[in-house]
Formats: sequence, structure tokens, C-alpha cells
Amino acid sequence: SSQALVVFTPSGKRGRFPVGTPLLKCARNLGVDIDTVCGGRGLCGRCQVTVGEGEFAKHGIVSRKENVSEWSSVEARYQAKKGMKPERRLSCQAMLQGDTVIDVPAESQVHKQVVRKRAEVRNIELDPAIRLHYVEVEQPDMHNPTGDLERLLKALETQWGLTDLTAELRVLQGLQQALRASDWKVTVAVHRGQVLTTIWPGFRDKAYGLAVDVGSTTIAAHLCDLATGEVLASNGIMNPQIRFGEDLMSRVSYIMMNPGGDNEMTEAVRDGINRLVQEICGEAGLMPQDILNATFVGNPIMHHLLLGIDPTELGGAPFALTFNSGITLWAEQLGIDLAPDARVYVLPCIAGHVGADTAGVILSEQPHLRDETTLVVDVGTNAEIVLGNRHRLLACSSPTGPAFEGAQISGGQRAAPGAIERVRIDPETLEPRFKVIGCESWSDETSFTEEVRRIGVTGICGSGIIEVLAEMFLAGIILPDGTVNGRKAAQSTRVFMEGRTFSYLLHEPVNPEEPRIVITQNDIRAIQLAKAALFAGIRLLMERLGVDHVDRIQLAGAFGSHIDVKYAMILGMLPDCDLDKVSSAGNAAGTGARIALLNQKTRDEIERVVRRVEKVETAVEPAFQKHFVEAMAIPHKNLLYPSLS
Ligand code: FES
Repeated sequence: SSQALVVFTPSGKRGRFPVGTPLLKCARNLGVDIDTVCGGRGLCGRCQVTVGEGEFAKHGIVSRKENVSEWSSVEARYQAKKGMKPERRLSCQAMLQGDTVIDVPAESQVHKQVVRKRAEVRNIELDPAIRLHYVEVEQPDMHNPTGDLERLLKALETQWGLTDLTAELRVLQGLQQALRASDWKVTVAVHRGQVLTTIWPGFRDKAYGLAVDVGSTTIAAHLCDLATGEVLASNGIMNPQIRFGEDLMSRVSYIMMNPGGDNEMTEAVRDGINRLVQEICGEAGLMPQDILNATFVGNPIMHHLLLGIDPTELGGAPFALTFNSGITLWAEQLGIDLAPDARVYVLPCIAGHVGADTAGVILSEQPHLRDETTLVVDVGTNAEIVLGNRHRLLACSSPTGPAFEGAQISGGQRAAPGAIERVRIDPETLEPRFKVIGCESWSDETSFTEEVRRIGVTGICGSGIIEVLAEMFLAGIILPDGTVNGRKAAQSTRVFMEGRTFSYLLHEPVNPEEPRIVITQNDIRAIQLAKAALFAGIRLLMERLGVDHVDRIQLAGAFGSHIDVKYAMILGMLPDCDLDKVSSAGNAAGTGARIALLNQKTRDEIERVVRRVEKVETAVEPAFQKHFVEAMAIPHKNLLYPSLS
């Protein structure tokens, strides 16, 4: 029979096939990436392509619509039922008639790229752990007395090339009914190419997954379509464990003092997750039973409690984890209501203080793939610090305490409407201007906008504290050793004596019930201690790695997305770095969970990377103390910031 040439774009793969060969078959043969759930039966529409028209000089052929067979009745039926753009064809139905160029649009590729918002990070290649396969199974008869499962497995092998599969008991329990309910046509979900986890009668093409970041304060989740990688809904709730203690250590002491407290907390976090699953599914119009796969990240203590493991050992030296590696288990084992037999993957932990959340951050920011030396900092009550490049990666945790979150600060509060978040101080008059969360415009102390009067000024949040201290330093109100310069009292009444030290009056209330917001010497000391701890951790890793400069800084977490990095550098929280190379990574831990959800290979990748991360324990490093003392000065006892000048 006569042959025709087909070229697939964008891959450029080409080959000759007998006229009459379905395009999908040509693609398979050439290793061109085209998606399918129905296996070429014209049901799923995943295999759509367009036929190129015109002369393709690059390929040396003329391509015309007629070089591919006309619309088949199967395509017409699909178009009528589900809709399809007029220029599109189902590649499983359209047949080669003459030389042609076929374009495979991004959404028809199995390994399509899920575009991430930030340009400096790689996109996610879609390759979910759960795949759906539609199969038509041979019926049993007296001459072929094999089991239904054996015939299903044979069908999966011949129609999909899947071998060595096993099946969950629940699949076996529903197998005979499913096969007979829909004329021996079923769809199965296969986990990592190995296990049948679910069976449905007939055709089905929707599979969903959930990525969860279990933080000590909030639990956040993304609900994703596993076929497109699209985030269908995102939501967060307060971690219900908060009633046992605000921070991690108070939760661990609750367990030490209350036998069975770990079980209570495990139950609380799982209940919270179940509520979150309900809410997020409601938003997307789905049921928890539609979720076939989930991934989790969390700090070591959250990680242990989620898994129902007593975290007491993590409360004291030597901070031994129960286990480091990632773990795949059933949602049921975690008491989380998803699809029956849904699989859950929990990312690996790195060390006693550096958890699966940091593993998620690494997966998101990929310092291990770059030549440049990247510093990734996730600031909470502890700072998790990762430093390195494609050759070496180091990690540590530094006890910064909650000052950066506004705790231990006289006027401090969480970032919420009413909190001062930005500050400028006039170096001549020492008068402040500031911006309050919830208000569009800046205010100064002489003219408050309507907005500010309405919302009120309730306190100062983490990013506001960083800015006010940096501005005070730039205006000479704070000296390099951190003391408030009493001589400035002569320049403005805003600097005034309180007890034995001086303070700065940032805001005099508009309404009598609002607080006065004053920056005291104690506030400055609290931030100095926190920033010294952070910087000492960073310094320690830099010393270990043998670098005195970092090429790139990524700030992860809520704090990182709010602070102005320039101010963080003015105070000496971070090492010097080209300001263009410093950016916020948002909730990188949650993004890491989403990457692991959408691409199964990244699970193996992060396990490998985590195994080679060199853990540095700040508590036992003699150099930490020295670095800490040097970093108490603003910006630093002996380091300079050329990038700021
Ligand atoms: Fe499903 Fe073509 S492969 S419609």
C-alpha cells in the first residue's frame, strides 16, 4: 500500500506510514506525546490535534486538510456531546491520507507544562501518580474459564501496555459488578503504574488531587485537576491544634504533661483537614470521594502528629526523627476521607528541626538544580535555612523566636487590617509616615485619611517592625549597637525617655480606644536577637559551604511575601546580594506539595535530594555563638552591604 509522510509539531518527530493509519497510532509509533484516557475510542477527547495547512519548507512537504480523512461519525458524535473547536481532530479517528504536518496542542500532551506564575522557577511537568485507563474486557465463557481480574489485566496489557499490576481488595470486591454493569467496559485508576486503586463502570475521565501544607498556625490546601494540573480551588483554615498551644514547643509540652495528648492533637489536625477537604470540594463542586491522590508537607512536629506519631523526641536534643524518608500510604490510614483507597504521599523530612515543609520549599525553589548559590529562608518562629547549588546543599534551623511575627513587640500583632505594615521616617523632622493594612493610601501623623479613621490603627505587624527599625536606623535614631540615640530627643519629641531608655513614638491614636504605638528599646532588642539568630544560621551555612557571597535569595512563607527585602538587608537580616536577585517565593512549601502531587517523579527526586542535604545543627556549633554576637550589631559588626549603596 502507499505510504505518506507525517511530521508532528512541536516535537518535529516524523515518519512514513501506510495511508489509512490513524494519526494517534503514528504518534505512538514515533514516541510523540499525546494524551488519552479512552485508548483511542473517541470518548475522551484528550487526543485532539490540528492539521497544518500550507507549504512547510522546513519539512519539505505540502500539507492540506484533505491529506487527512474527513470527520468521522465518532468525531461528529464527540463534537455534538462535548464540543470541539472546528479546526480540531481526534487523532485516534483521523487517518493519514497524504503527506501532512500535525500540530499537537499543549493541552493534548501527557507531559504538558503547568505554568507557574514566577518566571525564575521551572514550570511543573504534568505526570500525576494516578492515571485513568478505559478498557474493554473480554467476557468469560465456558471455554475460557479465567477470572474477571485476569481478563481485566490482560486487557490492560494489550490495550495500554501495562504489566505487573496488582489490585486493591476493594477493586476485587466491586469488580464483577462493575464489569457487568456497563457491558464489560470499565475505567480503572492506576497508582504509579502498579496498583489498581479504583474501578468504575463505563467511561470516566476526571481525576482530582489535593496538596496540603500542614502549618502550625494554618492548614492550606490546593485542589487540582490531575489531567490539566489546574488548581480548581485553594483554601486554608486555622490549625485546630492551636487550642493546645500557640507554638510548636508549647504543643510538645502539652503532650509531655498530658498522657494521650498526642492522640488528641492527631485527631484535631485530621478533623481540621477533613473540614478543609469538605470546604474546598464544595467550592469546586466536587465530593471528597473524587480525590484520588493527596500530598502533604509540614514541619517535623506537624508531620509526626499527622501520622499519629508521638513527637516528644523532637522536643529536646538530639531531636531524633522517627524516620526521614517520604511515605506513601492510604488516606484511610490517616483518617482522612477521600476516595476509598486514595493514596497519600507525605514528603520526607530533613532533620529534627527541618521538616517536610522545607523539602517542599526545595522542590519549589530547586536550589539543587542551579549553578548559582541560592539561599532559601523560610521565617516563622524558627527560620529554616537552605543554602547551596547543584553540587552541595546544606540546611539548618535557627531559633529566631516569634518576634518577626509581631510577638514580643509592645505594639506587635499579626498581619491583619489595622496593622501598620510600611513606615518611612523623615531624617530631618523624624516625623513618620505609614501605611496600614486595609488602607490604600499612606498616612502621616498630621492628616489621617478617612480610611485610616474608619479601620483604625491597632498595632504593627512583622513587616512594619522591620521597616520602622530600618528607617529609625537610617535616620540616626538607632545606633549601630541597637540603642536608641537619646541625643535625638533634642531634635523631636517623638524620641523620649521612658524609664532608663529611650523610645520612639510612632503613632498617637486618633480614637481614644486605640493604642499608642511606641517602639521601645526592648522591641529593638527582640528584633536584634531574632535577626542575629537568623543571620548566624545563614553565616554558619555559608562558612560550611565555603562562600562569602550568595547569588540568589528566595524568601519563603508569609513573612517573606510581605517584607521589603531592602529593609531586611539594611537591618542585616540577610547577607548582601544583588537586590534584583532577591525575591519572595510565597508559600513555597505548599507549592512543593503541589509539584509532588502533579509529578510523581519529583517524589523520587526530593527523596534523593533530601538524602544528600548536609544537616547543620546550630545548637552544637561553637561558631554559631560567635556569628550570633557579631550579627547583633546593625547591620553587622564587620560585614558590608555594597548592594545597598
Ligand atoms: Fe480518546 Fe481519541 S484517544 S478520543
